[in-house]
Amino acid sequence: MLVSMKAILDHANENNYGVMSMNCINIEMVRAGIEAACEERSPIIIQMGCGQISKHAHLTEIVPVVKELAERATVPVAYNLDHGSNLEDEIRAIQAGFTNVMIDASSLPYEENVQRTKTIVSLAHPMGVSVEAELGHVGQAADGDGRTDDMYTNVEQAKDFVARTGCDALAVAIGTAHGNYPKGFVPKLDFERLHELKEALGIPLVLHGGSGSGEENLRKAVAGGINKINVCTDAFAAAKAGMLELLEENPNADFLALQMKAEASVKAFVKDYMHIIGSNDRYVYADFDSGSKE
Ligand code: 13P
Repeated sequence: MLVSMKAILDHANENNYGVMSMNCINIEMVRAGIEAACEERSPIIIQMGCGQISKHAHLTEIVPVVKELAERATVPVAYNLDHGSNLEDEIRAIQAGFTNVMIDASSLPYEENVQRTKTIVSLAHPMGVSVEAELGHVGQAADGDGRTDDMYTNVEQAKDFVARTGCDALAVAIGTAHGNYPKGFVPKLDFERLHELKEALGIPLVLHGGSGSGEENLRKAVAGGINKINVCTDAFAAAKAGMLELLEENPNADFLALQMKAEASVKAFVKDYMHIIGSNDRYVYADFDSGSKE
């Protein structure tokens, strides 16, 4: 069933587990994620970034597909606009049927971030759509800025931010970065800061840049209060690895076989991930308030 992201994350927050939010660029990835979730009896969040939507899939084409697959699912599925940055994209996503929008004004001055987030909350909530915001700034691994702590989320500022904006979930900067880290590099996360943020805020917290973080970091992040983990780079890599493996076995493999192999490979990756972050088998036990828009 398609539900608001708030419904999924509130349950994860109350029961101390993490939910995977996978960036999907085509039907195969969406199907792989949702099938994995059904088989693992886990909630899942399907997300698309604004750039990914405009480059690879147009809203009017992909949204009905995601909705259809989500409605058919036997577990809760939310649909999130990842890194929305302007009013037009946010409104389009809300109107199209996304059940959560992220407003990322984290690289703007603090007051501007507060005002933009407040505006999106005021538009989204009456439509039954929840809102994720970001405070501090999660950069790009390629820039190495995940390794400096000048952009990390400040606890006192976060308290003020959540109280003033009414956002439903907050993406925090504690040491991860988007994309591939340099080979062999594992980020060092600031778990003390995470603990302080969770104590101070109590709401679902989000970890961006889930790829390449390492299993131990992921487990500790979930134990420390992260409830949503964004994964893009590693999911794409799983699809590519599946294709390469098939081509190695059979250089004449056709496009259909390659697509199917990529889908199976993403599905296996998602299932493994769900076990690391503890979302498997949650739905059977869940006293789940669907927060469904209908
Ligand atoms: P990765 O590509 O590092 O997994 O980051 C994904 C992300 O945070 C999307 O918002």
